[in-house]
Amino acid sequence: MERKEHWEKIYWEKELTEVSWYQPRPETSIQLIVENSSKDDAIIDIGAGDSFLVDNLLELGYTNISVLDISANAISRVKKRLGDKADLVTWIISDVTEFIPTTEYDLWHDRAAFHFLRDEVDVKCYKNAVNKGLSQNGKVIIGAFSDSGPLKCSGIEIQQYNEASFKSTFEGLLTLQNIVNTNHPTPFDTIQNFNFGLFQR
Ligand SMILES: C[S@@+](CC[C@H](N)C(=O)[O-])C[C@H]1O[C@@H](n2cnc3c(N)ncnc32)[C@H](O)[C@@H]1O
Repeated sequence: MERKEHWEKIYWEKELTEVSWYQPRPETSIQLIVENSSKDDAIIDIGAGDSFLVDNLLELGYTNISVLDISANAISRVKKRLGDKADLVTWIISDVTEFIPTTEYDLWHDRAAFHFLRDEVDVKCYKNAVNKGLSQNGKVIIGAFSDSGPLKCSGIEIQQYNEASFKSTFEGLLTLQNIVNTNHPTPFDTIQNFNFGLFQR
C-alpha cells in the first residue's frame, strides 16, 4: 500500500485513542520545546497526525505554529477539534520527503514520523528539507523508537535510533546536544521506549 493511502486509512478508520502513539499530553515534547524556544519562534511539527502538541503550544501562547502531515484526514481531525483556533495555525498536507519549505523554522519537531524512513533516499530528502527549512541557529527535536523499543509502528518496520545513529545520520547538518530517553505507555497497556534527540544547527 502506498504511504499516503496507509495513513489516510488509519485516520479514517481509527479513533484518536485507538492508535499506539496516542498521548493525552505530549509531555516530553512540550518540555523540550519550552526549554529550547521562545513563544514567537516559528515551530513546525512534522508528521503531527492528530497529536495534542499543537493544542498545548497554542495554550502556552506560541504564535507561529505549522503542522505538517501526509494525511489530510489527520489534519482535518485536528482542525475540527481546535475550532476557531485552527485559523492561528499553518496547515501543510505533504509527504515530508517531498516537502520544500518556503519559510524558515526556528524549531523542527518530529515524534515518530522520521523513524519510518528506512530508505537512504528518503532520509536524504528529509535532511534536505531540514537544511532548507531550518533557520541559522535552529533546533531540531526528533523522537524515535530506541533500540529497546518496538521494531514496528502502525504495522510498518521502523528504524530505531540511539546516540550513535542519531549523530551519524545528521552529521554535517546537525549537532546532537542531548538525548532524552522516555517510556510511552500506549492505550493498549504496553510500553514503547523512545529516544528524543535534541539537535542544534
Ligand atoms: C506514529 S504517528 C505519530 C503522530 C504524532 N507525531 C504523535 O506523536 O502523536 C506517525 C505520523 O506521521 C505521519 N507520517 C508518516 N509518514 C509521513 C511522511 N512521509 N510525511 C509526512 N507525514 C508522515 C502519519 O500520517 C502519522 O500521523
